Amino acid sequence: MLSPAILRLMDIDVRTITDDEVAAWSAGASTGFLNPVGDVDAEARRPDLVLDRTWGAFDGDTVVATLRSFRSQTTVPGGGALEASAVTAVTTTSTHRRRGLASRLVAGELAASVERGEQVSVLIAAEWGIYGRFGYGASTEHQTWMVDALAAQVRHRPQGTVEYVDRDTARALAPEVYERHRSKRPGEISRPDYFWDIDFGILRYPSWPEPKPSFYVLARDPARLVTGVARYSYEEKWEHRQPKGQVTVRLFLTDDPAAEALLWHHLLTLDLTASVRVEDRPADELLPLLLTDARHAQPSGRADFLWIRPLDVAGMLACRSYLVSGQIVLEVVDSAGLAGGRFALDGGPDGASCARTTASPDLTVDAATLGSAYLGGYRVRSLAAAGLVDEHSTSAVARADAMFRSPVTPWCTTWF
Ligand SMILES: CC(C)(COP(=O)(O)OP(=O)(O)OC[C@H]1O[C@@H](n2cnc3c(N)ncnc32)[C@H](O)[C@@H]1OP(=O)(O)O)[C@@H](O)C(=O)NCCC(=O)NCCS
Repeated sequence: MLSPAILRLMDIDVRTITDDEVAAWSAGASTGFLNPVGDVDAEARRPDLVLDRTWGAFDGDTVVATLRSFRSQTTVPGGGALEASAVTAVTTTSTHRRRGLASRLVAGELAASVERGEQVSVLIAAEWGIYGRFGYGASTEHQTWMVDALAAQVRHRPQGTVEYVDRDTARALAPEVYERHRSKRPGEISRPDYFWDIDFGILRYPSWPEPKPSFYVLARDPARLVTGVARYSYEEKWEHRQPKGQVTVRLFLTDDPAAEALLWHHLLTLDLTASVRVEDRPADELLPLLLTDARHAQPSGRADFLWIRPLDVAGMLACRSYLVSGQIVLEVVDSAGLAGGRFALDGGPDGASCARTTASPDLTVDAATLGSAYLGGYRVRSLAAAGLVDEHSTSAVARADAMFRSPVTPWCTTWF
């Protein structure tokens, strides 16, 4: 005889939602994120929700677990882009947690993603321990910088201008800068247009805090092309009649190093400002090297950001270029049965081909480890040293390590 707990679980229906279930879904997502607002966000959320990508677990009429996704593209080394499903709003209400509901939702979404022909699924993990079991691996990192603005000096101010603009002007120009930046940076994802409205505080869910009043600046190169956009807020502070104001940079977007130097020069020459803080910066941040004294900029909070779940292994391996030419036979183990198999990769700086093979493998990895190695943000040799890669032929780890490195450090700036 089945226990009452198992019978209750069998009663819970996991499926995509219909239009008239958006309010219940929204209430479920809020409760899952411990935000006691009920369905107040439902109307605001509606334009973002693609119903056949919006999953709910129903206990009667109550949505007790949620997940949704949107179509996106993820830039890879060499400048190509993968078809990706960007997964978000994964929640289970506390009364229903640890009964396998998130697992059922993720399994449903991943199967649908394969059906749609998406090559990877991507997400940002609230906690490290949640998604590895589903085949996702951490693939990009980000970090925070705090700069002593009274001491820091930009070594060389490139030619170009920085100008204040209003919010709507910055919002209109930011996507173009982002698109140029995204095409060059592995790990960046394409953004639905409404993300910009959220970023600039134009679109807001009712339960979200009021955005801080901000300044908007543009960097222009000598040809007047907009190459950078920043948004920052200022908090006034005084100590012993000395100005100790704090600037928090909420958007720092550039598509070339000169624009970075121009924007930093602007931020570090603001009057009444003792510190400048900026989050979500890349692991290969340029800032310290732009300063006359690198130690006036202090990094902190380096952490994983974008996680990748391989789905179409041959397609994704063929999509990127490789730092050095080489061949590797890779055995991918996938307990979910979505991406497993043996793949022969032949790749180099100009591109790659990859197909299923029956040849003996050089390396065995699980799907999550391939997700971590794929963009080159986590080195194959480090993953191997940590026991996550099995080597079957001499120097295969060294060969894969050299191939999978990326000339541009992976970075994702998009919260979703
Ligand atoms: C994370 C969350 C969605 C998990 O939902 P859930 O329905 O309890 O998950 P499942 O029951 O399917 O768990 C599957 C497995 O993952 C494990 N797991 C779940 N959450 C975990 C966590 N935070 N850390 C480590 N392991 C976790 C479970 O223990 C279970 O392992 P088992 O199969 O060995 O028993 C849920 O706890 C939640 O809503 N948390 C708050 C919101 C949040 O952080 N969402 C993630 C946004 S990225």
